[in-house]
Amino acid sequence: MLITNIKRLIGVDNERRSAPLRGAEMSRLGIVEDAWLRVENGKISGWGKMENIPSSGLDEIHDAKWGDVIPSFCDSHTHIVYAGSREGEFEDKIRGLSYEEIAKRGGGILNSADRLQLTTENELYRQSMERAREVMAMGTGCIEIKSGYGLTLQTELKMLRVIARIAESVPMRVRATFLGAHAVGRAYAGRQGEYVDMLIRDMLPAVAAEGLADFVDVFCDEGFFTPSETDRILENAAKHGMRPKIHANELAVSGGVQVGVAHNALSVDHLERAEEAEIALLSKSDTVATVLPGASFFLGMPYGPARKMIDRGVAVALASDYNPGSSPSGNMRMVMSLGCIKLKLTPEESLNAVTINGAVAMDCAVNYGSIAIGKVANFIITKPLPSFAFLPYAYATPFISSVWLKGKKVSDK
Ligand code: NIG
Ligand code: FE
Repeated sequence: MLITNIKRLIGVDNERRSAPLRGAEMSRLGIVEDAWLRVENGKISGWGKMENIPSSGLDEIHDAKWGDVIPSFCDSHTHIVYAGSREGEFEDKIRGLSYEEIAKRGGGILNSADRLQLTTENELYRQSMERAREVMAMGTGCIEIKSGYGLTLQTELKMLRVIARIAESVPMRVRATFLGAHAVGRAYAGRQGEYVDMLIRDMLPAVAAEGLADFVDVFCDEGFFTPSETDRILENAAKHGMRPKIHANELAVSGGVQVGVAHNALSVDHLERAEEAEIALLSKSDTVATVLPGASFFLGMPYGPARKMIDRGVAVALASDYNPGSSPSGNMRMVMSLGCIKLKLTPEESLNAVTINGAVAMDCAVNYGSIAIGKVANFIITKPLPSFAFLPYAYATPFISSVWLKGKKVSDK
């Protein structure tokens, strides 16, 4: 198949890159103007200028009508498997309660855990699939989904099985993360240490035995899990081959960055706060710093110092954090725009942060995150746009014309 009449083919990558772009490299963005793109067996097999268009041997031609083509989004941090929604807490926040206060009153994560407990696996799958289809239509082609609203052995397994079913049902690439240490389950209230013991003794081996998780995550933050608990969980998860992705520094400087880097985490995420020493540590490590500007926007929290991180040589990714409590949206176009508007990333840096660096943060950049020969043919075709910077600038204009995953059109506007 050949896509013709592409105004700008964006994210072109001659190296089939699988390492993150860090620091100044994040401004690099391959763009070919007046281009065609060839897809064979669901993979990218070539591109060129319209003046040299291949003439024979093609079954199918799709005219991009002088729109742009960009790689599909790689959303490396989401919690889209949940039951119901939490707009009641949204109203509480409008009236002045903080995220921590709501959590202390039994709202927050435990509220979602209560609902999930009462929801059948089929119903949970149905609700979550709606979100999966929603984000696919908005251009996400590769997504990480976490457990963490179960908080008992059986309900965590239920969530992870739903993630596995989603992975089988959609053309998106899905990566699963076990986040049993998202909060202390109600049955263990006041006995956090025993919950961690149970997680290590019962949950980790059961999750591993069913092969349900690629990665492990811990909410290492004030009022949640401590760095030493996190350390124990990560040490045991490593025995089951699960690499960490850590929630750190959302509510306070938590020590989560240090413990994550010490365990060779794929990413440390949130980072609304990050001190010089942590930024220096990240700049020397292979760990991606994943900033979640949608959570800052929704909760009115500080925005992470992504600009400073890039200036210091860190590999920064941006992700949606799609979840019912702190970021009820998986719109990666919005995330990319917040990257520019609030984090002061350039449009090039922001696009790299939501594509190739996101792919690295879920260990699938060999096949996703850029327009490279041999990578999976996942891309978005836009309506005709005046320039590349229009992409994050026109943050709510519905300019996506179609989304293609594995070389097939999944959505048409
Ligand atoms: O990434 N911070 C921890 N976990 C989620 C929010 C979970 C919730 O409020 O339901 C987050 O923001
Ligand atoms: Fe999160």
